[in-house]
Amino acid sequence: MFWYGRWIAAAREEEVPAPGDWRVVRIGTQSIAVLRDEKAKIRAFHNTCRHRGSILCTGERGTFARKRIVADVKANWKLVAENFSECFHCPPVHPELCRIVTAYREAGAWGLKKEAGPSPEYKAGAATLTLDGSARLPAFRNLNEEEKKAIYTPYMFPPNLFLNVQPDYVNSHLMFPTGPESVRIVYDWLFEPRHLPLSEADLQHYVALWEVTNAQDARNCEWQQQGVRSREFKHGHFVPQEFDCFRFTEWVRGELEKNRDRPRFSSPDDK
Ligand SMILES: [Fe+2]
Repeated sequence: MFWYGRWIAAAREEEVPAPGDWRVVRIGTQSIAVLRDEKAKIRAFHNTCRHRGSILCTGERGTFARKRIVADVKANWKLVAENFSECFHCPPVHPELCRIVTAYREAGAWGLKKEAGPSPEYKAGAATLTLDGSARLPAFRNLNEEEKKAIYTPYMFPPNLFLNVQPDYVNSHLMFPTGPESVRIVYDWLFEPRHLPLSEADLQHYVALWEVTNAQDARNCEWQQQGVRSREFKHGHFVPQEFDCFRFTEWVRGELEKNRDRPRFSSPDDK
């Protein structure tokens, strides 16, 4: 009556000064995590996991690791993978990305294969893939001069790991289907341990461009998911710039062929 049913004084706001900071307040048998969220708002939660009930904040105070964004996208995982594997869509969809990877402006990923002619691949003076092309960290150790100039190199490891490799950081997408028309994507930003922890300003410097680009891709995949429901849509058409997209669909086709006679245990997630 006195403790669990009314507002009480729990902590002073300077005890959680920055986004991600937390401290635990114990009231009777209850453990409460008081924290400052990503928008710098102070919030309080029961310190218990909704899955199996474990406590989440195990000490008295600390800071949550951030370099991670989780997004639920209403699209089949194969549409997301196809989206990642081609940049034909980049000029109209990703103006911010194309400002730095100038080869994408006209030709999508075709540009990085030097098929688009002698135009420069990256914005003049750009050192890495950020909103303005500037770097706040030195390049990874052991890169040679040529490798340091490769400002953006995408890799896909089907079915669910995508890497965007830059000279000084890596942006990773891990994808997990949650239904036939939905997927959870976990975005991580990876840096050399010697630079950690990054300041909030430096972290935001590296997160900003991908935050914009990933949201644009998620929106487009959701539009595509809605569009392919049309009774008139039978199949798509690849243009030459979608060579990697074609490779992915051939991989899917091969896997389906290989597994055609295997017993199936869970059809909904397999769709
Ligand atoms: Fe994209």
